[in-house]
Amino acid sequence: MNQFEPARVWSAKSQPLDAACVESAAALIRSGQLVAFPTETVYGLGASALDADAVARIFIAKGRPAHNPVIVHVNSVDEARPLVAEWPAMADLLVAKFWPGPLTVVLRRSALIPDIVTGGGPTVALRSPSHPVARALIAAAGVPIAAPSANRSSEISPTRAEHVLKSLGGRIAGILDGGPTTAGIESTVIDMSGAIPRLLRPGPIALVELVALVGPVAVGAAHGNGGALPSPGMLDRHYAPRTPLRCVEVFDSELLSGERIGIIAPQATGLPGAVERRIVPTPESYAAALYDLLHELDGMNLDLIVAWMPPDTPEWLAVRDRLRRAGC
Ligand code: TXA
Ligand code: MG
Repeated sequence: MNQFEPARVWSAKSQPLDAACVESAAALIRSGQLVAFPTETVYGLGASALDADAVARIFIAKGRPAHNPVIVHVNSVDEARPLVAEWPAMADLLVAKFWPGPLTVVLRRSALIPDIVTGGGPTVALRSPSHPVARALIAAAGVPIAAPSANRSSEISPTRAEHVLKSLGGRIAGILDGGPTTAGIESTVIDMSGAIPRLLRPGPIALVELVALVGPVAVGAAHGNGGALPSPGMLDRHYAPRTPLRCVEVFDSELLSGERIGIIAPQATGLPGAVERRIVPTPESYAAALYDLLHELDGMNLDLIVAWMPPDTPEWLAVRDRLRRAGC
């Protein structure tokens, strides 16, 4: 593929899906190329997870550091099992309830998984997405699909095909356009490879829902394990817009300086000249809208974006995490 040829975009917005476009995308995956596709969380940048050269192309296209492992997408537990060395009973409880869906489970890898997928580490992250286009692509490709979010490293994750095209359009073979994603932020990542489950990334599946099934869950990256990074993606500033971002719990017009301001808030602030975008103040609604609004406001050449920071309570863990990573 010519690096500078724009990606082919297939519309996959209506049901039933056009089998021919899914098959064309799957053929590219099988031949080692990169195809972006919608999931219920954000768009993924897919390559065959069993093909080390193809996965290497993901890292090049994204400009992603080689130590940061990628998630492998499958359609079922049966497809996941050969990819892991052991499948703990507690992992069964989780996937029985939350797959297909926005939960990624980290387990000890099997020899089928190339080193580049895991960043050289002993574990692999697995997820079974619920989005029909993602599922159709995995089925048609006939291989597990390695896919990080389909953005250049450290940019905001894409929630629409247009975001992917803008960020990676000249670097990938194709994009399946399934319209806007629904959950809007990346999957919950839980490490089930150790004695105690560990939440590595909060997401659409809340911590309380995990605890209800598996008991105590440690939170955050583990330390003191000899220098290996348990979830390197969690340590970086990430998901950031180019425009400076500030978060406030209360909108006070004296705090809001700057020439042209974008505002993300539950109510109108009435600040003269500001570009106001409203969100519904529930965790699901704010998550669904957050990246979409950040992409939109970031494209308007504003001096500052000011976003509402929700309260420090468990149900807001994931939204607060993404706002902090975006620069707040
Ligand atoms: O919702 C999602 O999870 C999306 C869609 C496309 O599935 N994918 C996604 O991938 O957000 P990515 O690569 O942007 O984020 C994956 C996160 C990173 O923080 C990475 O470090 C962590 O998961 N991760 C991947 N493999 C891991 C492993 N073996 N152990 C620990 N953390 C891992
Ligand atoms: Mg990402």
